[in-house]
Amino acid sequence: MSGQSTRRTVLKGAALAGAAGLGVAACSTESKLGHAGVPTPTAPVALGSPDEVPVGGAKLYREQRLLVSCPAKGEYKAFSAQCTHAGCVLDKIEDNEGNCPCHGSRFDVTTGKALKGPATVPLPAVEVRVEDGTLVAGPKAAPSA
Ligand code: FES
Repeated sequence: MSGQSTRRTVLKGAALAGAAGLGVAACSTESKLGHAGVPTPTAPVALGSPDEVPVGGAKLYREQRLLVSCPAKGEYKAFSAQCTHAGCVLDKIEDNEGNCPCHGSRFDVTTGKALKGPATVPLPAVEVRVEDGTLVAGPKAAPSA
């Protein structure tokens, strides 16, 4: 019984720490990037119908931490949706710019370029293609390792 309550206390602490990480603290430590791990997928990620990405626009896949834009019909570009400043996931797309909710960085959805700081590094590009009518991002097959 006592073991259970200990675990609950630990979980509560972790949740609080996580919430704090989203606030001002995220700005002060570049090493916070570490919490996000690898910003790009290491295996194929199915994103659903390519029609969900507007032609001339972009769609955010926050759960998958990806951003897909469609500069022309049938042409797709994907990027990590994880801000290169301190690792927050972009929250919306406005005027074909991905917006970071943490400190206001903006990224071009067709090039990944940082348009507004504090981020200066572009979003890493991710391979993307249509396979059997489904948009798939990431490397073709899982690496052998
Ligand atoms: S994490 Fe600071 S602007 Fe995105």
